Amino acid sequence: VGSISIIGVGGMARVLGARARQSGHTLEVVGRDPAKAAELARTLGGATTGTFGAVPAGDIVILAVPYAGAAAVVSQYGDALAGKVIVDISNPFAPGFTELLVPDGTSAAEEIAKAAPASAHVVKAFNTIFGNVLAADTGEGHPLDVFIAGDDEQAKARVSAFITSIGMRPLDTGLLGMARRLEETGLLLMGLGAHGVKSYSFSLRVDPR
Ligand SMILES: NC(=O)c1ccc[n+]([C@@H]2O[C@H](COP(=O)([O-])OP(=O)(O)OC[C@H]3O[C@@H](n4cnc5c(N)ncnc54)[C@H](OP(=O)(O)O)[C@@H]3O)[C@@H](O)[C@H]2O)c1
Repeated sequence: VGSISIIGVGGMARVLGARARQSGHTLEVVGRDPAKAAELARTLGGATTGTFGAVPAGDIVILAVPYAGAAAVVSQYGDALAGKVIVDISNPFAPGFTELLVPDGTSAAEEIAKAAPASAHVVKAFNTIFGNVLAADTGEGHPLDVFIAGDDEQAKARVSAFITSIGMRPLDTGLLGMARRLEETGLLLMGLGAHGVKSYSFSLRVDPR
């Protein structure tokens, strides 16, 4: 699988970082606030910290910042992300959680890919799982389904191997353009949470018949 870097030190960085460390991955956490990154690295145990904007130590770089800042962060990194597999987990929700911030015909993942070096590969993943569900999941029993999308097969294979290694099931949905559908699925989850399910403690699962 290789080593993992996480850019961002919020809730998702914490839960994904914990899963990565539990599974024995080498982990680097990077935040724009070095003190917060150091605190998270300490909490996760055995994680290192990196310098924001410098070449990440990990081969797989999980971008765990809000969509509003994501493309700017990737632009700021510039060539420091050359050759990396960038995992976009963002849900570009507009206020109210019924619309997306990205216009029709693109996705957060595609906008992030535009900002990334040509040699980097963006894979959409994890956006269709609530952070609280991820945090509560033990990896026992039914693994959580992680829908992914990306244009580069090798990059998707590496992200899939990472997902499997942390006790979840990767399910490939196709090319990066499918991130549009995955981001809309994020809205579907919010709608279900607000209406039909009336809780945000559920997950989407593919149930073969
Ligand atoms: N929460 C969920 O259930 C969930 C589920 C699936 C996907 N996601 C996605 O996961 C991503 C992270 O969400 P989260 O819940 O972890 O958010 P969060 O707890 O608010 O953490 C966001 C992190 O991003 C950093 N950040 C914000 N703007 C930045 C910028 N311009 N440059 C650098 N760092 C910046 C923040 O840094 P500071 O601490 O310095 O402010 C913070 O560490 C989002 O894209 C979200 O859509 C969330």
